[in-house]
Amino acid sequence: METYGCQMNVADSEVVASIMEHDGFQITKTREEADVILVNTCSVRENAETRVRGRVQGFSELKKKNPKLLVGVIGCMAERLGEKLFEQEKNVNIVVGPDAYMDLPMLVEKAKKGEKAINIELSLTETYKDICPSRIDETSISGFVSIMRGCNNFCTYCIVPYTRGRERSRNPESILKEVRDLSDKGYKEVTLLGQNVNSFVYKNSESQVSFPELLELVAQEVPNMRIRFATSHPKDMSDDTLHVIAKYSNICNFIHLPVQSGSDSVLKDMRRKYTQEWYKDRITAIRKIIPGCGISSDIFCGFHNENEEDFQETIELMKWARFDLAYMFKYSERPGTFAYKNLKDNVPENVKSKRLDEMIHLQNQISLENNQNDIGEVFEVLIEGISKRSEHDVYGRTSQNKVIVFPKGNFEIGDFANVKVNSCTKATLVGESV
Ligand code: 5AD
Ligand code: SF4
Repeated sequence: METYGCQMNVADSEVVASIMEHDGFQITKTREEADVILVNTCSVRENAETRVRGRVQGFSELKKKNPKLLVGVIGCMAERLGEKLFEQEKNVNIVVGPDAYMDLPMLVEKAKKGEKAINIELSLTETYKDICPSRIDETSISGFVSIMRGCNNFCTYCIVPYTRGRERSRNPESILKEVRDLSDKGYKEVTLLGQNVNSFVYKNSESQVSFPELLELVAQEVPNMRIRFATSHPKDMSDDTLHVIAKYSNICNFIHLPVQSGSDSVLKDMRRKYTQEWYKDRITAIRKIIPGCGISSDIFCGFHNENEEDFQETIELMKWARFDLAYMFKYSERPGTFAYKNLKDNVPENVKSKRLDEMIHLQNQISLENNQNDIGEVFEVLIEGISKRSEHDVYGRTSQNKVIVFPKGNFEIGDFANVKVNSCTKATLVGESV
């Protein structure tokens, strides 16, 4: 299994691994040992697809050595490109979209016979609720549980609603069972995943469960586990959810709230369904209800008609919001989206690059200053591993999702430690246990 793209793909790869294991397959450590290589892919920007194509083309050598080797492209690229992938990438034998993973064993059999193996059917109901994901990562400290699939927002630039289909929420009972399973296996942290978790709603004839209610159920189910969630859409970020976070000490004080742009006219063209003022109100609410909450965001520049004034509104918003972390991109036009058909990609590449540099420069400075403000403070840290720089140090995260490095002492991976911050860079805090 190779995984590219978002956390949802990481979670999906574990579902796929589980489905394949039931069919008698096993995860291999190296690709040389594999009979089947499945590449779980991302389509959100063109460069994500380019990377995967390069990877798949690189399998030629392996295929020469092992002519029986099968290569499957699964996930968003499979959904977007379908049959075309067989023509464009000669190494590809299997193509499977995000809602068709149950079909994988059958498709592998088909491919073995030299037949074209493809299923890119999207579903209105598939949530893989009965699959217990097979945990692939080695650390076994922090796991993902997907609570919903798909997206109904149709932001004009975004390919996700086309590749992942309509929004559907998973049965809360099966979510709680999976969270409990992680806890039983010794995991210390769970991240609840969905494209837009705030619009989670599960209905049956008797009752209805909303996102804040689900969050509360999970917090009560595993009181000793840390709980995170992603991603939230600003238009649905409710005070109810913020109050639940404030109420439970095991729900992390951290929110990822993608703003995308600070300009109302760009936000309108993006069909984000909120204004700069609305977004600021949500940040103000977070800071009031959850003091000290970590906040991160996604922002991209160079969308259709974004002029220098629009862009400066994004810069001003970043200065106002002072995100702890931001993922920043240049607009990448995606075939099939509303913007591709109707909103010209009319900001020149060199302007996009210049704007991206300006955002990154500003955010680096803000991240550094926010980290400097933590110096002298003490945070509870979940230890995730040994530092890459020194075997005498461990690293972990604060509730606010900041990475912190400190001397290992007698701590083990998976322990919680109280750590005082002594220094920092823009990306990492450095401290000592107290
Ligand atoms: N071009 C650039 N960035 C995009 N994103 C989504 N679609 C595009 C696109 N076409 C970004 C958004 C989103 C993140 C996951 O990727 O910022 O929040
Ligand atoms: Fe894409 Fe918008 Fe859905 Fe996020 S909310 S996945 S940006 S369409």
